[in-house]
Amino acid sequence: MTANLKKGIFISLEGIEGTGKTTQAKLLSERLSKEGYDVVLTKEPGGTVIGSRIREILLQPDHTEMSYLAELLLYNADRAQHLNEKILPAVNDGKIVITDRFTDSTIAYQGYGRGIDIGFLKSIDIIATGGIRPDLTILFDLDVETGLMRNKGANKVDRLELEDIEFHKKVREGYLKILEAEPERVKIVDASMQPEQIREKVWEIVGWRLKMS
Ligand code: TMP
Repeated sequence: MTANLKKGIFISLEGIEGTGKTTQAKLLSERLSKEGYDVVLTKEPGGTVIGSRIREILLQPDHTEMSYLAELLLYNADRAQHLNEKILPAVNDGKIVITDRFTDSTIAYQGYGRGIDIGFLKSIDIIATGGIRPDLTILFDLDVETGLMRNKGANKVDRLELEDIEFHKKVREGYLKILEAEPERVKIVDASMQPEQIREKVWEIVGWRLKMS
């Protein structure tokens, strides 16, 4: 790999709860930095100061009265701020941006999980992002039971994680449909493998994408 990029690269990591993608995001970022790349590691919701306030509202477990529409608009508000304040300036500056979640999360969770019309979601997305998509998306795929069990072990409880198993199954199916629709952009990683194997697979995919730049 070479550390000279003409233009930056925008990478998103996606998946249901408990796939280990946040750990893998850190490992990838560290490895790219070691190779001499300028890397920005970020996340949604909460990649900016304003976004972290929005994240608190979204994930607070006792906000049970939140309507699906308010939830959708808050994720999009977070994304609009994130894209303009952090992602686009970095990519335009030749950096590699790795975000833990982006628009595919909204399609999977609010669309397939909540059942909001996908066409409607996409029209809101155009307002929030102008339709900008990552250059590469890595989907960490795992069966829902294993993911939720791993999450319980991590003692992590937020409002979305409190949804029942059927919700999370629909989210996973949603991700697999996104993968099927956009195989050029979205690459799947089997998150049931050992962490080192996952790390190597991610590295292989990113290396392949970097060669195209
Ligand atoms: P996480 O950062 O710990 O993965 O938590 C974010 C939660 O928010 C997770 O349950 C997925 C959910 N989410 C959505 O429902 N829609 C979205 O657009 C995004 C970015 C996240």
